[in-house]
Amino acid sequence: MNDRFIKACRRERSDATPVWFMRQAGRFLPEYRKIRNKHSLIDICKDAELCAEVTTLPVDTLGVDAAILFADIMLPLEGMGVKFEIADGTGPVILSSLNNLQSVNSLITLEPDSDVPYVMEAISATKKLLDSRVPLIGFCGAPFTLASYLIEGHRTREFVKTKKLMYRDHETWHLLMDKLSTSMGIYLRAQVNAGVDAVQVFDSWVGCLSPADYHTYVLPYSQQVFSYLKDRAIPRIHFGTGTATMLEEMKQAGGDVFSIDWRIPIDVAWQKLGYDVAIQGNLDPVVLLAESDLIRAKAFDILTRVGNRSGHIFNLGHGILPETPQENVRQLVDFVHEYTKARD
Ligand code: CP3
Repeated sequence: MNDRFIKACRRERSDATPVWFMRQAGRFLPEYRKIRNKHSLIDICKDAELCAEVTTLPVDTLGVDAAILFADIMLPLEGMGVKFEIADGTGPVILSSLNNLQSVNSLITLEPDSDVPYVMEAISATKKLLDSRVPLIGFCGAPFTLASYLIEGHRTREFVKTKKLMYRDHETWHLLMDKLSTSMGIYLRAQVNAGVDAVQVFDSWVGCLSPADYHTYVLPYSQQVFSYLKDRAIPRIHFGTGTATMLEEMKQAGGDVFSIDWRIPIDVAWQKLGYDVAIQGNLDPVVLLAESDLIRAKAFDILTRVGNRSGHIFNLGHGILPETPQENVRQLVDFVHEYTKARD
């Protein structure tokens, strides 16, 4: 097995810096687009063989050091009683958004074996297809990011409805966050039992909060999600964007690896977090639309800031953009591998 990724999660030395990309199995890959022309996103997720094929695509075509299960943060919410669609170009759309105690009360606890059996089947099929080439990452949405979709009904910029509910209706907020963290904890445990080698908790939109509000309204619940994996010896990645001012708070919530975006230099972020955790990031996804010299210079800057310290996983600060040329991505993977191999 290529164990660069797992070694870096544990801050152990390996032959080269591992690389993978969020949304690496997405629309920027022509092979993915071909499959998507025939099948919806949900159909791919619910067909174990197809899901395994899509999950494995970037391993074959890009040479990345980890695969991330092709799924979506919204899938387990169906089992909790939420009705949603995933709209092209927009993302999740909730058919009846949650905004009061009554609607939150009606949410039920996820039962992975009956609600998302296809996720567990896809994990087994993917492990088989990967044949120990690279580790498989499972994931879930963090309670705040899921709550923001449930309350707003779709992605927004300002998160006004979410924050309004958080500030005005404490009982509903805390009940919603408690229910989401319980179900996501159970969901991650089920993924680990099914065979994933690491997990990532996606708190994509948490950067809209102040550190103090993160502490009061979010931290206990993200902590609860991670607590479900206390007795499991697998690496846990904690991801967010716009989190430069709340890294210490996020660390309190839990995780072995912290995934940061480009708004903070990686060495500054690591210093804030402390060197007893690993770090993932942090190239701006838009850089991959630039000329190859600039891509290399930006990657070089990240690698230089990290220096010889072990525990860095090279990634973007957020998902790869659909318009990204595949060739740029392949060149970046090669550059990170070759540069860090030669350096050691
Ligand atoms: O390659 C991978 O990263 C694995 C697959 C994956 C998907 N969604 C498939 C997908 C992962 C890890 C996710 C997580 C996810 N889903 C997050 C957290 C990560 C992040 O980007 O912040 C969020 C917020 C969602 C909700 C969601 N689903 C969004 C914002 C979108 C994008 C809308 C768009 O069209 O750009 C989706 C749809 C989606 N999920 C796509 C993919 C590959 C793209 C659309 C498609 O192929 O139909």
